[in-house]
Amino acid sequence: MTQQQNTAHAAPASGRLQLDEAAIRAAGQRLDDGAVTPGFGPWRDDIVKLLNDALATELVCILRYKRHYFTANGVQSPAIADEFLVHANEESAHADKIAERIVQLGGEPDFAPSHLLERSHAGYDASTDLQSMVRANLVAERIAVESYRQMINLIGDKDPTTRRMLEEILAQEEEHADELKDWLGH
Ligand SMILES: [Fe+2]
Ligand SMILES: [Fe+2]
Repeated sequence: MTQQQNTAHAAPASGRLQLDEAAIRAAGQRLDDGAVTPGFGPWRDDIVKLLNDALATELVCILRYKRHYFTANGVQSPAIADEFLVHANEESAHADKIAERIVQLGGEPDFAPSHLLERSHAGYDASTDLQSMVRANLVAERIAVESYRQMINLIGDKDPTTRRMLEEILAQEEEHADELKDWLGH
């Protein structure tokens, strides 16, 4: 990020808290930009890229949890297998929220299966025993937690709506990791 970008939307030299009236007037134009108004700053493309990588992560997590649900169910611990399905559905809700936000920002949500794994932070897993499944999911959840934490720090006050959404998703990923940790060794 350049120094110029850093200061583009800073308070005026007087230090007074004043709205940028010109930007407010400009917001009444360029209607094709929808939710994105002049004060958004120059980070829209970067935020869409971060969100698309998060979308890929969520989609891979759905596939991994579904695979585990269908192959573990009824074998050793139906209760844990059922929780894999609960997680899959929660990851699906995360993916939907992220895709919706990408569109609001004027971007294209990337659902292309050919390079999902390449862009996903977390990996797929086709373990056949329950303990390996739990471990693989815990690894993936911890990777998701770390990537969301970093995204939230990077976005800071640049896009409060995206940050709030990511904070909600992060809280749920932390719950997932916590539950999986409890199931390790059971
Ligand atoms: Fe998720
Ligand atoms: Fe998760």
